[in-house]
Amino acid sequence: MKRIVILISGRGSNMEAIHRACAEEGWPAAVVAVLSNQPTASGLAWAAERGIATASIDHRAHADRAAFDAALAAEIDRHQPDLVVLAGFMRILTPDFVARYAGRLLNIHPSLLPAFSGLRTHERALQTGCKVAGATVHFVTAELDYGPIVLQAVVPVLAGDTADTLSARVLVSEHQIYPLAVRWFVEDRLVLGSDGVMRHTGNAPQWLFPTPDSRDT
Ligand code: GRF
Repeated sequence: MKRIVILISGRGSNMEAIHRACAEEGWPAAVVAVLSNQPTASGLAWAAERGIATASIDHRAHADRAAFDAALAAEIDRHQPDLVVLAGFMRILTPDFVARYAGRLLNIHPSLLPAFSGLRTHERALQTGCKVAGATVHFVTAELDYGPIVLQAVVPVLAGDTADTLSARVLVSEHQIYPLAVRWFVEDRLVLGSDGVMRHTGNAPQWLFPTPDSRDT
């Protein structure tokens, strides 16, 4: 049974999707803790209501990034995770923190990486005139929004899209690919090649295109 710790900063809809899929699909895993740097993150209450251990480690209460990351790591390690999942966790992590969880730290980013790392991805995709957008699940390395890609979802950019409508469409796809990527991890289906490319051991497609039903819900 693999132990998953999820880090959030806000509503935690990706956390919900992962927890639900884990329970409904009977993964050999459990979400053992949900932690946040924001004490008011609404996802904390959702997790607590389901009996998941929660804690907040307020970054504002720490002198610097290294001190915050050390406190966060101490809390994470209490739960002895096999996997740490960043799900809308809006903090840049120090290289020491990333190294500590190397190979067991996943992130989701709302763009087709390596395009549009960083913030305001949907605005930037629209400004650039992109015809497709999407989301990427990747292992975290010291470089921001970089690291071996596990799975990508591609959604269309539609006429009249705003950052909000595009974001909503991408979020639907996030809720599809993040649980799948975590499932692959806990089922030991991922292997990193000597070329630095992350592959599924059964050659499952590592991309997803939206079904008509999931486009604008
Ligand atoms: C998602 O779009 C994620 O890709 C981004 O922040 C958002 C978090 O949403 N990093 P939620 O908290 O999972 O609902």
